Amino acid sequence: MPENHIHANSEQNIISQPVVLVGLMGAGKSTIGRRLANALSVPFIDSDAEIIEAAGCSISDIFEGYGESIFRDLEQRVILRLMTGAPCIVATGGGAFIQPAIREAIAQKATSVWLKADLPVLLERVSRRDNRPLLKTGDKSEILKKLIDERYHIYAQADITIDSNYGPHESVVEDIVSALKQWQKKDA
Ligand code: S3P
Repeated sequence: MPENHIHANSEQNIISQPVVLVGLMGAGKSTIGRRLANALSVPFIDSDAEIIEAAGCSISDIFEGYGESIFRDLEQRVILRLMTGAPCIVATGGGAFIQPAIREAIAQKATSVWLKADLPVLLERVSRRDNRPLLKTGDKSEILKKLIDERYHIYAQADITIDSNYGPHESVVEDIVSALKQWQKKDA
């Protein structure tokens, strides 16, 4: 086993509150989040999946049937409910951290981690599936570029920023774990 392999048992109790992954569509929040939760032996929650379950339909259906603002209300309700203090990993939808009320709740009750990736990487990842309503309205690259301009300075307010470009998922998870350890030390 490689020396730097993350051992579930050795990485328990690193976090004492929720860790919330933020960043643009395609940054890897759900994929990395699931692995991070596994490495830290805490529950994994995907806020979009919670919304889908609560609404009983897909995110695209919510956007099409009720509009984006209803989706944002649901998103806020779901995420505020998750900020209860119990340690877990929460992957949020790309627009969640942009909502001031959500950002505020995360700042008070959680540690935020921005998974930062560059346009070509995001584009390659989002092109694998066609389930994101915001990307169905035009050229994906143009839309992502605009969202980068609008959102990156807000994601930058997260407690921790992690490069989520190329490289194995495991090394991104390891980077997050060491950043969280540093972060906890700072708070101690
Ligand atoms: C959105 C991102 C999506 C989803 C919704 C809106 C956004 O989540 O919440 O389509 O505003 O960036 P992912 O970032 O998980 O794709």
